[in-house]
Amino acid sequence: MSNNGIAVNVEALSKVYRLGVKEQTSEHMSELLLDFLRSPVQNFRKYRSLYKFDDVELDESSVTEAQAENILWALRGVSFSVREGEVVGIIGGNGAGKSTLLKILSRITPPTRGKVDIHGRVSSLLEVGTGFHPELTGRENVFLNGTILGMRKKEVVQKFDEIVSFSGVEKFLDTPVKRYSSGMRVRLAFAVAAHLEPEILIVDEVLAVGDAAFQQKCMNKMQAVGKEGRTVLFVSHNMPAVTSLCDRVIWLDQGQKVTEGPAQEIVGKYLLEGVETTAHRVWKSAASAPGGKFAQLREVRVVSEAGSVKGHYDIQEPIGIAMEYDVLQGGEVMLPHFRIRNDNGVLVFVTLDHDPEWYQRPRPAGRYVSTVRIPGNLLNEGPHFVECSLITRHPDIPQFHETDVVTFAVMGSMEPGTARGDWPGRLKGVVSPALQWETRYSEA
Ligand SMILES: Nc1ncnc2c1ncn2[C@@H]1O[C@H](COP(=O)(O)OP(=O)(O)OP(=O)(O)O)[C@@H](O)[C@H]1O
Ligand SMILES: [Mg+2]
Repeated sequence: MSNNGIAVNVEALSKVYRLGVKEQTSEHMSELLLDFLRSPVQNFRKYRSLYKFDDVELDESSVTEAQAENILWALRGVSFSVREGEVVGIIGGNGAGKSTLLKILSRITPPTRGKVDIHGRVSSLLEVGTGFHPELTGRENVFLNGTILGMRKKEVVQKFDEIVSFSGVEKFLDTPVKRYSSGMRVRLAFAVAAHLEPEILIVDEVLAVGDAAFQQKCMNKMQAVGKEGRTVLFVSHNMPAVTSLCDRVIWLDQGQKVTEGPAQEIVGKYLLEGVETTAHRVWKSAASAPGGKFAQLREVRVVSEAGSVKGHYDIQEPIGIAMEYDVLQGGEVMLPHFRIRNDNGVLVFVTLDHDPEWYQRPRPAGRYVSTVRIPGNLLNEGPHFVECSLITRHPDIPQFHETDVVTFAVMGSMEPGTARGDWPGRLKGVVSPALQWETRYSEA
């Protein structure tokens, strides 16, 4: 194939919804396919039209104001590509266009403009029940989905038991899917999507439904699919799930791509969006720098173990906070300190500079950098705000005191060795230390 290892390529993709106008195409692939099987000729065109990615005339300059009010750009000029075997996360707030994008990639709805190239057999799990025909039983739907994926009956039969056992809906296999609870539908739908050996697996927000155990099973399955070298596109609002599963993340906002890049970095930016943040503050001129008679603050940085400025940290990673300051007049004992608050404004802790080399010792004039190291597996997930202060001692006189001077984000992870381990949700609490447990057992 001439796809150069690219599984999905999207160029300048836009999708317009005309409000109040019902989409012509079916939201349910299965219904469509059934229609098609019943009356092939009549439906052939309808079926084909789903796969046609022709531009639709929609000239913005010719749209009247009244028309514009009824037009919604669910996606606007989105471009990206995904390599074969990559596991890519798509994140963004409600209404960002994530589901719309996945529906286009799954060919459930056509784009208004732009180009989509897909190399490989796609299997998708979109909204609950998409891809299932309500009147058919669970068993029939599994076979129907296999057919949609272009599998032979024999191939589906081979996978059938695995699918059923993963889904846990054995008892209801011969019940029409419309009688299923939404949780049961998702279980079966995920099992089908993940086990029918797609080359590209597309999953929308499956973790929002189902209990913790099933969520974990889905995560493990998607991880396994990724490791087998298949391509996975995963939409979720669960950021730890995204960072632990995905190599790369695409961030959408109001139909447009904000940015894309390594999962940790993009999720970090996304979490801190809307929060006035910076991991680095510098006062270039002494005139503007905060300070008193004896000391003046010149710089505050949040730094990684390697010493580089960074605003987002994996929960397991140590975080350094450094203040750089000038002692203007020597001879005073000084006490630099930081206060760390979380996004609820709760004071998480105060830390004082107890460096034995300088503790209770008068400092000569000059430039100082004092750095504290916060160990990994201590702070909980979320944004944190740093207050930076310095006082002279005996008597205590504040020299500078800057609130919210720098900000950083701690990102959850489901790796072993973290406080949450494989628990899928954020743990409550101000801190999230990974503590040792011991259990003694004696036979009853
Ligand atoms: N069939 C439709 N008709 C009209 N507007 C639609 C339709 N489907 C989606 N939209 C609109 O398109 C925009 C993008 O919706 P989409 O469902 O793609 O967002 P999303 O990123 O998946 O959001 P969420 O996180 O809430 O699932 C929203 O403003 C939504 O209201
Ligand atoms: Mg959605």
